Amino acid sequence: MKIQLTDNKVFFENEGLKKEIHPFWLRERATEENFVDKSTQQRLFDPTELKKDIQIKELNLSDKFLEILFNDGIKTKLEIKNILKEFSNLDYIRSIEKIKWNSSLGKLNNFEFKEKIFEEKTMYDALISFYKYGFVIFKKVPTKNNFIINFANSIGSIRRTNFGEFFNVKSKPNPNDLAYTSLALSPHTDNPYRNPVPCIQILHCIENKVSGGYSTLVDGYTVTEKLKKDFPKYYKILTEIKVRFQFIDQNVILEDWAEMIQLDENKKFKQVRFSPRLDFVPLMNKEKLELYYSARNKISELYNSDEFRIEFKLSSGDLLMMDNYRLLHGRTSYDANEGARFLQGCYIDYDSTEGKLKHLKRKFNI
Ligand SMILES: [Fe+2]
Repeated sequence: MKIQLTDNKVFFENEGLKKEIHPFWLRERATEENFVDKSTQQRLFDPTELKKDIQIKELNLSDKFLEILFNDGIKTKLEIKNILKEFSNLDYIRSIEKIKWNSSLGKLNNFEFKEKIFEEKTMYDALISFYKYGFVIFKKVPTKNNFIINFANSIGSIRRTNFGEFFNVKSKPNPNDLAYTSLALSPHTDNPYRNPVPCIQILHCIENKVSGGYSTLVDGYTVTEKLKKDFPKYYKILTEIKVRFQFIDQNVILEDWAEMIQLDENKKFKQVRFSPRLDFVPLMNKEKLELYYSARNKISELYNSDEFRIEFKLSSGDLLMMDNYRLLHGRTSYDANEGARFLQGCYIDYDSTEGKLKHLKRKFNI
């Protein structure tokens, strides 16, 4: 990749392809202090108020800089590396490669909590691990005074839902969700009926004195890839049919239509939703429904199989952070008479983890 000049025009050359860079694109990137606020990097001018026919009058290219004088009299000195960076189109977060895992995953991604962890390199490593595996566990996180709120807000901002800013997971009378019983919960994603679905769930174990109540996780990405390879017809219908997910409570009705496996604009894995107590497929012809039901049974079988599930016990102070778009979670049943099992949960969105990760990358010059 390199920058070239011809007749007061700037060209960008990449792998033999040479394209002119629009003069306006360069003009609105003027970085001098009159044009950009140094700390926020926000523009101090409104580019929609500039003359539209911006032309280049003079150009000078050196190893590191491109100096330009425009026809509106403005002179700027742009760093070549910044221009090239914009052309590389690289999304740092998407460039972190997902590691597929199944029940043979040996180690859990554990990081020990320290008071200043949110500004330390350890947090950068933990977040990278989160993006690779879809989850991370912090040990020895303080359990007093709903510390989960501090934790979430120190990474980004809590995503409040109708379950509140955070929720207490323990068995209680007249529950409005099976989470608040001592029954086993099969692998599921949370809140598939919400728009948008909360991205990341945080579960903090305050105490766990029962012999059961193991936490379970399944990598929806691994299962999706398996389905795509071995059962392409099932994969196809689950990526195409939008089903209605719904949640009904006394004061609210939440509904959203979405595919069980959602792909991005490049047909790559984006998100799974799975909660077979809450999904309603639309009325379609019998053959199509037949295929849909077979596909749902197969993916349910895979999600629930021993091949893909990891099972572990959260102890007091353990805090599990998991990607609700990628992973399914659940728990084994427990006997509430044996003792207390008390977890606190909340949600944050991707802008929290992405923002923190990019900040720490900048801070540690990684
Ligand atoms: Fe859940």
